[in-house]
Formats: sequence, C-alpha cells, structure tokens
Amino acid sequence: MSKSMKVTIIGAGNVGSACAQRLAERNIADIALVDIVEGLPQGKALDILQSGPVIGFGSRIIGTNGYEETAGSDVVVITSGSARKPGMTRDDLLMTNMKIVGEVTEKVVGKSPDCTIIVATNPVDAMVYLARHVSKFPRERVIGLSGILDSARLSTFVAAELNVATAAVDAYVLGEHGKNMVVLPRLTTVNGVPVTELLPAETVSRLVERTVGGGAEIVGLLKTGSAFYAPSAAITQMVESILLDRKSTLCCAVSLDGEYGLKDTVISVPVKLGRSGIEEVVELELTSEERQALADAAKVVQELIGVMQLN
Ligand code: 2OP
Repeated sequence: MSKSMKVTIIGAGNVGSACAQRLAERNIADIALVDIVEGLPQGKALDILQSGPVIGFGSRIIGTNGYEETAGSDVVVITSGSARKPGMTRDDLLMTNMKIVGEVTEKVVGKSPDCTIIVATNPVDAMVYLARHVSKFPRERVIGLSGILDSARLSTFVAAELNVATAAVDAYVLGEHGKNMVVLPRLTTVNGVPVTELLPAETVSRLVERTVGGGAEIVGLLKTGSAFYAPSAAITQMVESILLDRKSTLCCAVSLDGEYGLKDTVISVPVKLGRSGIEEVVELELTSEERQALADAAKVVQELIGVMQLN
C-alpha cells in the first residue's frame, strides 16, 4: 500500500481548525494539527476524528504541541499568529507575526524539507517573503493565501447583484492582500461576459470597494477575530490542487521573478498549482493602468519587506 499523503496545519485557531476539518472531510491526507496551547490541538483533532464515522471519512488526524508528528509532510499550512482587531490593518500585525512565522517556518522545514508551504498569516504577502527567506525553498514551494479568497468575495457580491449562480462568475483579484488589492472587473466575467458590460460603473465600483474591504467587514462584525470559513475553503482548494495534482489556475501570493515586470516582491497573481507547487505563473494581458496598479501593490509590499530587515 502506498504511503498516505500528509498535511500539517500550524495553528489550531479558527482558520487552522476549520482547515483541518475541511481537509479531513476531503479524505485525501492524514493531518497533523499543531499549536503551542496545550490540549487545544489535541482536543480539536480528537473532536474532528470522532466526526469521521458520521461524515464517512477515514483520514487520521492528530493534535500536538511539538513538531515530531509533522515529519515528512507533503504540505504545511501556516496559520499561526495574531488576527486583526477592529480598526487594525493587516500591516499592523507585521512585527508580531514576523517572529511567529519565522520560528514556525524553521521548525517545519527541519522536519519536512520537501514540503510545499502555504502561508495564511497576515500580512500574508510579506509573510510569504519571510517564509521563503527562512526556508530557503524555491519560490515554487512557498505560496500565500490571498487572491482565491479575494476573488471568492468578489464572485459572491457579483452573483448576488445579478442574481446568478456563483459558479457562473469567474473573478480575478490580484495584487496585495490589503488596500492595494488589484480588482479586475474587466476580466471578471459572468458566463463569459465582463461584469463591466453587465453592471453600471457605480455598481462595479461599489462591489470593488466591498471586495477590498471584505476582510475588514468581517473583522468589524465579529469584533474578536477575523474571517475563517472562506479563508479555510480557499486554503483547502490550494492544498487539493497540489496534492491531487489538479493544475488549477488560482490567484495566490507568490514571489515574482520578472513576471508582470516585477521582481523581489510577493503579490497575488494567477498560478497553476500542481504536485510540485507553482508550476506556472500565468501572465494576463493587462492594460497599462492595471499594470501600474500591480506595480504600486508590489511597491507597498516591498516597503513592508524592508521593515522586516531580513539580511
Ligand atoms: C481575510 O481577508 C483573514 O486576511 C484574511 O479575511
């Protein structure tokens, strides 16, 4: 019998545990859920495991405070760190989360030198850069959660506005996972027709604005935490595309190496995700305005990277 695939999830908070549940229910890999709080990952893992007989999955899932059980993971998802409180930007989390993500990455890599890392901790673009710096992994194997989530938010708003199925909407949101998000209504289509031809310009602007503030809207409502259902769904799609070698084209935060005329930065662009991680960075035909917006986003992320003072 071939060895089971293995996914480690670091952080048993809302995003991490929702991811563990979604992945366990997919029945595609064994899961290690890690957190520093004693009992938390063990309790959540046991609870998820005991839902197996009812839901009908056989994935093994263990909770742990150490890294021994993470050894040999195919994919490691990093969710640990502080979440935003109302009024905070993702960038306000930089210094706190930098320390956590740096330490976690080092430990993960020691046990799973061949894994692909998916980073969810904010500010995610800078955290991807950091995880890559610490792991020394090629860019193909360090990927951040951003564009899938932001595109899903736009799809949701467009579908509601036009009263169509979300599946009919194909949305593109690139750039920074923050206020320099680059929402592309021109390339966002409903059954192949651009939304710019289906909705008045003011409506499109309103939906774009709501998408950019999509995470903050939820932080404002929850008051004590940030979104986790949609983020965990997006992470699960990334993990599946990698483990099952789906080669789906998904918008993710990745290190650019000349694509879109940008280098030494991390922003969301469409990539093909397969068994070896990023198998292609897809270059869309953009207008000069859209390219400029992407360059502006890249610059903002570069400034954050500079603040981290990585040597
Ligand atoms: C969000 O946009 C948590 O950054 C994440 O909801």
